[in-house]
Formats: sequence, structure tokens, C-alpha cells
Amino acid sequence: MPGKPILAIIGGTGTSEMEGFVEERRTEISTPWGSPSAPLRWGHLFGTRIVFLARHGDRHALAPHQVNYRANLWAIDSAGARSVVALAAVGGITSAMEPGSVVVPDQLIDYTYGRAQTFSDGEGGKDPVRHVDFTDPYDEGIRNWLIAGARRADLPRIERATYGVTQGPRLETRQEIRRMEQDGCDIVGMTSMPEAALARELGLSYACCALVSNWAAGKGIRPIHDELEESLRQALARTRLILEAALTTPLPERP
Ligand code: HPA
Repeated sequence: MPGKPILAIIGGTGTSEMEGFVEERRTEISTPWGSPSAPLRWGHLFGTRIVFLARHGDRHALAPHQVNYRANLWAIDSAGARSVVALAAVGGITSAMEPGSVVVPDQLIDYTYGRAQTFSDGEGGKDPVRHVDFTDPYDEGIRNWLIAGARRADLPRIERATYGVTQGPRLETRQEIRRMEQDGCDIVGMTSMPEAALARELGLSYACCALVSNWAAGKGIRPIHDELEESLRQALARTRLILEAALTTPLPERP
């Protein structure tokens, strides 16, 4: 396997291609949990060695509930990366979560169902079940590393938010979003679970960089799909600058 990458980036909707990423090679990986969404792409981002994985596949054909999250995280772990930044398009629920913003959530609520949630799923009774501590689902070190990058790049950023993870692939109803807001959700997306929990089980330092592509159902004036592409483009341009600034400093030491 090529030299160890320092960081893995999981690309989401609109981010299957990372501008600035210089790809050097691809590797097909098979895992005990099946195949990941796409080959791992090895290369450099702003001079730093990374490995990149397109969560929805190279042709964006996998819906959020079809993604083999276990194979994806397993592949990243076996590539040797210890830190993961997950890019994810989300809808904005609370008033500060304007389309085009970049959000670094610190909490999540899981509304998904029927997804393989754990690696503690082998032959029953063989390996002891591990109940990982998930009090704070995102790694504070990587979160702060991203936030410091945004600060250095002088970009607006939202440093705390709760990510409500829905099943999709349909978008939510107006009342579902009202309920999620009452629950304390600031943003809504479809992929942070089980991704974050599986990363924790593997001991990977995982944080999410959420790109607000639209107001969530019932929160905006324009139809959701009218604003999506433009806002995603704006958030992606900001994310690129954040990563560029963040990558000028070393990733945090793991405890
Ligand atoms: N809801 C759920 N997932 C999303 C949304 C949304 O409004 N926008 C982007 N991903």
C-alpha cells in the first residue's frame, strides 16, 4: 500500500470531486463488510498526503441508506488514516444556518433506521460487544482544527450545531422539520449516522464539515431545489479555503 495518508476525507453530495486534490493512484479495497462505495483515491490536497473516498460512489449512484458505511470506514482505517473529515450537504433549520454556510457540528440526533450501525455484529457471542462512549459524537480536536482553519481564512463559520440525521432519500415534511427543531436540531442531513458511530468504534478521530445547501422544508421562501446548487457551490468554495488553511497546521495529536 502507498505511504500512509495523514487524513481521510469523505466526500458527499457535490463534493465527489475535490478541486485542488492531486490524485496519484486508486486502490480497490475489499473488507470483511463488503466493498466500499468507491476505490480509495490517494494523493495530495494542498501539499498534504490524504486519502479520499466518495461516499455515494464515483457516479453518485448510492442513496444515503444504500451506502456501506461499515466497508467505507473499515477501508479508511486499513489505509492507515487516523483522522477523518466528512463533508456533508445539509439543510439549515435554525435561523443562523443560512444556505452557503459551513457548519462544524458538535452534536447529532439519529433518526435513521435499518442501517448497519456497528461492527459488533459478527458471529454472536464470539467477540465481546463494545459500548463506545458517544457522549460527544464528533472529535473535538479535529473540530477545533477545522474551526481554526476557518478563522485563519477569515471565513464565517458556525462552530456548534446539532445535526439531525434522517433516513431519506426524500426530503423531510414541514412538520418533521418543526419537530426536529423542537428536538434541538440546527441542521438536517442523511449521512452522519452511522458514519460517526462506526468511526468511533474504530478509534478514528472523526469530524463533520457540513455544507448548508438549502433551507430545510418549510424554512425558506424559495422551492428547495431552486437554491441548492448555487448554495452548495458557495459552501464548497468556503470548505476548500478552510481545508487549505487548516492543512497548514498539523492535525491534532491523538490522546
Ligand atoms: N434534508 C436532508 N438532507 C439534506 C437536505 C435537507 O434539507 N439538504 C441537503 N441534504
